[in-house]
Formats: sequence, C-alpha cells, structure tokens
Amino acid sequence: MRRSLVVGNWKMNGTLASGKALVQEIVSGLDNTNADIAVCPPFIYLSEIDKLLQGSHLKFGAQNIADQESGAYTGEVSASMLKEINCTYALVGHSERRSYYGDTNETVAARFNQALSQDVCPILCVGETLEQREQDKTFQVIDEQLNAVIDLVGIESFAKAVIAYEPVWAIGTGKTASDEQAQEVHQYIRQQIAKRDQSIADNMQILYGGSVKPDNAKALFAMADIDGGLIGGASLDAESFLGIYNSI
Ligand code: PGA
Repeated sequence: MRRSLVVGNWKMNGTLASGKALVQEIVSGLDNTNADIAVCPPFIYLSEIDKLLQGSHLKFGAQNIADQESGAYTGEVSASMLKEINCTYALVGHSERRSYYGDTNETVAARFNQALSQDVCPILCVGETLEQREQDKTFQVIDEQLNAVIDLVGIESFAKAVIAYEPVWAIGTGKTASDEQAQEVHQYIRQQIAKRDQSIADNMQILYGGSVKPDNAKALFAMADIDGGLIGGASLDAESFLGIYNSI
C-alpha cells in the first residue's frame, strides 16, 4: 500500500515571520501521521524553518536544486548544501522554472541526479500546457519529460523519487483538472514506469498539482493512481493546507 504525500510549494511568498507562523500553525494542527507532509519555503528561510521542525512529522523541501555539484554557478544552491540542513525533498522541473528560467528536460534531469546523489528526494514535476493538451500532445510531452530523466539516472533511481503531475493550465488558475483527467495521466505515468519496473511503479508516489483546494482534494485523492498533492496557493494558509492533508 502506497503512503500518500502532501507538499506545500510556497513559491516566492511571505516573510520569515509569516513563514515561521505558518509552520507553527501547521505543526500544532497536525494530529495524525496517516500520510507524509512537507513544505517548500524559499531557500533563504529553510534553515530557520528546519529549527522549528526538529522531531516533527512535517518535513521540508527546496523549490529547486542546482544541476551541478559545486563551483562557479552564481545563484545556485547545491544538493550537498541542502543535505547539510536536513532537507528531505527538492522540487525539480516545476513548470515556472521551465517557462520563466529556462529549465529544459536535460537540466531538470541533471538537477534530479544531483538531488539523488545527496539523498535529497527529488519531486519531478511534469505536465502539459493548454496548447499541448488541445493538440493532443499530453502523453508525448509527459514521455519526453520522463524519458530525459530516466535516460540519465536509470529507472532504479525512481525508487527514491516522487513525481508530480501538474497540468500547466491548472496551476494558479483556479482550473483544476477533473478527477478523471488527472487519473488518466497519473495512470499513464505509472504505466510508463511499470513498463521498465513494475515494483517501482507500484510503490511510486505520484502527486497531482494545480489548484488543489480543501473542497476538491478528497475526490482527486480518491483516484486510484493519485497519491496526494503538490499544493501552491492553498498551502499558504494552515487551515486549508491541513484541510487538504486531512482529506487523504
Ligand atoms: P497552485 O500551484 O496550487 O497554486 O495551482 C501548484 C503548484 O504550482 O505547484
């Protein structure tokens, strides 16, 4: 039986004070360990957030991770730096990184590889734009995004990773994929993994992201291949984030 996971992606929001208050509220409202749960604050707050989470069921992750080990890469944060501060997860290939900051399938694969090298669990974000969906290219896009990573790191590495399916047209738009639309792609992703390794596919956490809210989470999470969510806007409020967690 797969465990579910709910991850909050704060993006570039809030202040140190509001982030600490949010984490404290989540920790004090967390009354079960039925699923895994994590928040991804901005890099600069991670060490401070870590201090609040010692011994807590709530883990934390980074929103990105460098594609290189170390060296002259101005502005990047390496996997070993993240490991040093107990970082559990790192998002790789979020659609905002792909569309605004030039991440390609190849650099995303390199980031994934770096995360694994330090035992930071990569959360690989994949998903199609509205245009690609309308042109019936959803599965092709997913294939390209997945294959670039599998080709670099090998399928075995997916035993220590998470995938998040986030249709770009559903991110921050209030338009959620229907439960069936999401399930269809989740099932497809699991099949692609299963073709290479059935047991990794059976155990793989595949999250859905894109305008998940407390009132639509339960139906999404009830779908056979949806193992939780990657939550943007609704993760900035403790009550709605916990509401989503509790709908697992
Ligand atoms: P959203 O963002 O929940 O605000 O749509 C999801 C994400 O970008 O991970």
